[in-house]
Amino acid sequence: MSTANPTEFEFSFLEEGFSARDIVEQKINESMTDDRDAFYVCDLGDVVKKHLRWVRALPRVMPFYAVKCNDSRSIVMTLASLGSGFDCASKTEIQLIQSLGVDPSRIIYANPCKQVSQIKYASAHGIQMMTFDSEVELMKVARCHANAKLVLRIATDDSKAVCRLSVKFGAPLKACRGLLERAKELGLDVIGVSFHVGSGCTDSMTYAQAIADARCVFHMGDELGFNMDLLDIGGGFPGSDNTELKFEEITAVVNPALDKYFPADSGVRVIAEPGRFYVASAFTLVVNIIAKKVIMDEDSISDDEDKGTTDRTLMYYVNDGVYGSFNCILFDHAHCLPTLHKKPKPDEAMYPCSIWGPTCDGLDRIVEQCDLPDLQVGDWLVFENMGAYTLAASSTFNGFQRPDIHYVMSRPAWQQVQQICSQGLPAPAEELNLFEVSACCGQESSLELPLKTCQAHVV
Ligand SMILES: Cc1ncc(COP(=O)(O)O)c(C=O)c1O
Repeated sequence: MSTANPTEFEFSFLEEGFSARDIVEQKINESMTDDRDAFYVCDLGDVVKKHLRWVRALPRVMPFYAVKCNDSRSIVMTLASLGSGFDCASKTEIQLIQSLGVDPSRIIYANPCKQVSQIKYASAHGIQMMTFDSEVELMKVARCHANAKLVLRIATDDSKAVCRLSVKFGAPLKACRGLLERAKELGLDVIGVSFHVGSGCTDSMTYAQAIADARCVFHMGDELGFNMDLLDIGGGFPGSDNTELKFEEITAVVNPALDKYFPADSGVRVIAEPGRFYVASAFTLVVNIIAKKVIMDEDSISDDEDKGTTDRTLMYYVNDGVYGSFNCILFDHAHCLPTLHKKPKPDEAMYPCSIWGPTCDGLDRIVEQCDLPDLQVGDWLVFENMGAYTLAASSTFNGFQRPDIHYVMSRPAWQQVQQICSQGLPAPAEELNLFEVSACCGQESSLELPLKTCQAHVV
């Protein structure tokens, strides 16, 4: 691997023929016997592929990446270079995105309940788009940010989502007219409607219903004299392909609903706030077994020795847990299962196992029950799809540090980023070419544009 633009973009090039999984292997091989900290490998090329998948599947919808999902600098830099907008929930997230040179018009402050000082910060730094769902919020905005471009967040039926959000945010339809009237009285500008169907949406029809509801609110806005021209369809899109509801199943519902309720000639700009879609599959977490217990089945102790795999349960303790990356188990209702670093032999015995994090808390359990071979202290376990709502909410409880992240990107993917920066999106045929001919593009490339040049075009 050679490092690319280390001061700007922190990643290493994946050399020709190598994948992120090879880097996992390389890092494991490089690790010292006693120094086997957990680590991540993040393939930024996977984020680039996701972006191309997004723009092809949802051509009318501009993504505003939800920074809360994973605020790693390399991730937001990659997305800024690709021309994404950003959904920020706080002053700190706004500062992060503005530190990349992103124009305030590409930021939506999408938190309906904001601290007054942070509304003032947004006002002072040119952030105009922000969401609201209550009268009190309108009064705060009228006092601190009279030029705000407000977006009314409506509630959705997110009862089938993994993580429900409308229990906390979103005005019911019957409250919307009153809120719009109040905004009018306060002299505020409401430019559109937003919603979130819940994170980990399992029912695509929720989007269709929410888009239809948004249309009703646009009618109310028209009647009150607002010039509403922004629809924000939120997040909820899956981050990997092993979910019940697939991304393309959602887009197959969203696109016709948009065409029906907000046709292209309606002049309404459509944006979304995808989080996990962009980052989940880019991150692989590799943890090391630091301790192990063998629990013998009491009934079997006096029995004959050769009871096969049924006589014991294994407890593995690894060096990241629910207070760290696996907080997603508690906060994001995630189910994490490892893959083995060492392939088991075809006849290798499997045992019922549990996997635990490194802290002293009994709550710190990653997997309650799974089948694994008889592994040893020092062996590695690999967890895929660990990019969403993991690092962003992890702590150093008990003094356990967050894992290092090794960012990688193939040269074709980097060329794709640079091409999008300077010339916009490629035609679909060209785009496939770039990914397919990785073998020859992987050779020393003449493209050496630093990100700064890209920023001049896009950010
Ligand atoms: C306001 C808002 N927008 C976007 C997102 C991102 O959602 P997802 O990761 O499901 O795309 C969230 C997640 O909580 C959110 O609260």
